[in-house]
Amino acid sequence: MSVVELKLSHHAYRIVIEPGLLGKLGELVHAVAPHRSAAIIADASLTETYQPTVVASLEQAKYEVLSTSMPAGENHKNLDTMRHLYDALLSSHQERNSPIIALGGGVVGDTAGFVAASYLRGVPFIQCPTTLLAMVDASVGGKVGVNLPQGKNLIGAFHQPHLVVIDTDTLGSLPPRELRGGLAECVKHGIIRDESLFAWLEENVGRILALESEALVELVQRNVQIKATVVMADEKESGQRAHLNFGHTFGHAIEATQKYTDQGSHHHGEAVSLGMVAATHLAVTAGRCDASVLDRLVGLLDQIGLPTSAGNLAPTDQLLGVMRLDKKVSDGQIRLVLPDQMGQVSIVNDQPDSAIEAAWEKVRS
Ligand code: GLY
Repeated sequence: MSVVELKLSHHAYRIVIEPGLLGKLGELVHAVAPHRSAAIIADASLTETYQPTVVASLEQAKYEVLSTSMPAGENHKNLDTMRHLYDALLSSHQERNSPIIALGGGVVGDTAGFVAASYLRGVPFIQCPTTLLAMVDASVGGKVGVNLPQGKNLIGAFHQPHLVVIDTDTLGSLPPRELRGGLAECVKHGIIRDESLFAWLEENVGRILALESEALVELVQRNVQIKATVVMADEKESGQRAHLNFGHTFGHAIEATQKYTDQGSHHHGEAVSLGMVAATHLAVTAGRCDASVLDRLVGLLDQIGLPTSAGNLAPTDQLLGVMRLDKKVSDGQIRLVLPDQMGQVSIVNDQPDSAIEAAWEKVRS
């Protein structure tokens, strides 16, 4: 079993990674959150597949199990879903020490995590991510929350899990488009922190896309280690944790405006892919970084099958308008994470609108 340890000043937890680990969930949870009962909040599409395995394993470890689910779409990550989950927890008498276990992708993890942060002022929380995106990003680091009609992730908390259990076998049933989307975050980790991870991805994309078990474990382990190291250095995002937003300020503008376009929409990872390319174009044009970084980035994203240019983006003034409303704006300046070289980025807020507009034009095909 691969283990990554995340140590914070008031809390420490392990992220454990192995194929088939969901079958051992009961004993793993019992070691960190022993109690009479436990509640599972699962992605509703997993009720026939992984949820029964998880229930059986918890029952074997002598938990009375409340097994609930929620639909996994982003539009269900809201207060209505939370109210429904609180009702289920109360009716089955879940207590202060009953763990809540999230089984699914980022939407389920964020919602279940916010329920765990707030139910009875906070109960133990276990993450079992089943998508690559959730494994290498959302399930590690304690950011939980839901959307409001006014925008995404506008309410939430930092509620660190007691344990993260990653069964890499679940990647086998992930739609290929979602696997590629998760890889966008792995490419991001290479650019912001680890040139050797980037080079490893360049060499191993084929094995990963072919779902070779050893390659998947190494992929997840290396990326979780980077995420954990960044979170350990800056738990509440007062500094370098913002480096994880590389590609995301541009990417969120794509996601937020695509309702205005009439063509197919971009998934999160695809928007981040385009966002990383736009940010790197900007960095190269501004003389902040060598063009070889852009060439390697575009080359790797192409190999993965992620977009590096798009014809169906909203007009640039709309994209820029959304960037100005983003949470990452401070004092009216758009804050961007730009590469300095492979494996290193900086946060800048001095780029003129004309440079940001030019970067958008570079990714428009
Ligand atoms: N997903 C970005 C972060 O956890 O900070």
